Amino acid sequence: KKGSYDHYMQKEIHEQPHSLTTTMRGRLKDGGVLLGGLKEHLKTIRRCRRLVFIGCGTSYNAALAARPFVEELTGIPVTMEVASDLLDRQGPIYREDTAVFVSQSGETADTLLALDYALENGALCVGITNTVGSTLSRNTHCGVHINAGCEIGVASTKAYTSQIVAMTMMALAVGSDQISTQARRDAIISGLTSLPSNVSDVLKLDVGMKELASSLIDSESLLVFGRGYNYATALEGALKVKEVALMHSEGMLAGEMKHGPLALVDENLPIIVIATRDACFSKQQSVIQQLLSRRGRLIVMCSKGDASAVCPSGSCRVIEVPEVADCLQPVVNIIPLQLLAYHLTVLRGFDVDQPRNLAKSVTTQ
Ligand code: UD1
Ligand code: F6R
Repeated sequence: KKGSYDHYMQKEIHEQPHSLTTTMRGRLKDGGVLLGGLKEHLKTIRRCRRLVFIGCGTSYNAALAARPFVEELTGIPVTMEVASDLLDRQGPIYREDTAVFVSQSGETADTLLALDYALENGALCVGITNTVGSTLSRNTHCGVHINAGCEIGVASTKAYTSQIVAMTMMALAVGSDQISTQARRDAIISGLTSLPSNVSDVLKLDVGMKELASSLIDSESLLVFGRGYNYATALEGALKVKEVALMHSEGMLAGEMKHGPLALVDENLPIIVIATRDACFSKQQSVIQQLLSRRGRLIVMCSKGDASAVCPSGSCRVIEVPEVADCLQPVVNIIPLQLLAYHLTVLRGFDVDQPRNLAKSVTTQ
């Protein structure tokens, strides 16, 4: 089943041009988006007071990646909830809310308990899941199957990118009644169409990421700074590194750097800064300058051709990725970090597909 690959995680990373294609198959029609599972509910969703995105781990991160463009394309405020935290707080969920539950397995206990809670509170409950027939799929009012194909590696990779694409299509469908954003929607749809080939392109960084991994093999910690569309990329990249490579790693909001994390910076701690082209680019350029002036050991992810724009001094290691529509950039940007986590794990001699202490589906609280 692994074919020519050594591990499922490796296979699933490299499968993403295909899994993204199946996520979109039959759903991009006549220049618009058709999600069979949502079409009867779009009116209700458009009328809701807010969208509440709920998930755990990687699925939470996928929802976080989707948040900026869902807000932009629908005009509806989005709040984020880690499922266990919503339950701990018994946070407010109202009849006027649409609660969107994101789960690869559709069987995560915390997410399902949060679903019961939202159902009791009368919210419209929408599922985004990879598993047809799962409890999440059955118990939500409606939803979208992401159709990424079975994911076996404990570390979620292809489900993450397909969740983001499914939520992009959801945002396009909910926002499709807004004339003012038509041109933006057309651009995103065209970006979706070319996304699989851009993902094939970024996968060519595999060898480079293996080299980078070998230079980080003895590091104790790795920070990842992102913002805007790529805040989620920073959290998700760090989650991959900690869960499979068993290395301490934190994803951080670059805008928070000066409010604490800057104290950690020295010439030894490796820091990945995500600085691909979008509205936050110049802010990330100044973050890089501030880190360099504190002798930070930087690895900068930038758009192709931007190496000297992000690091004029030439003192950073640079990862150049293809530029895609800004809101789809998280799908491309996570892939080098997935590859890095994979190679770090292999080089450090840990079990890739079955990390210590973890299970694929967390069915207990
Ligand atoms: C459906 C078929 C697909 C077929 C296509 C043809 C299924 C599972 N899917 O896909 O095989 O090719 O029509 O038009 O038979 N749902 C939830 N909660 C969730 C996920 C989904 O309630 O978390 C519901 C949806 O609202 C929908 C149904 O499950 O009623 C199927 O969802 P989905 O597979 O996404 O729908 P289609 O893409 O239309
Ligand atoms: C990380 C990972 C976990 C899951 C989390 C939620 O790679 O696999 O963080 O994302 O346990 O699982 P699902 O999506 O099945 O609800």
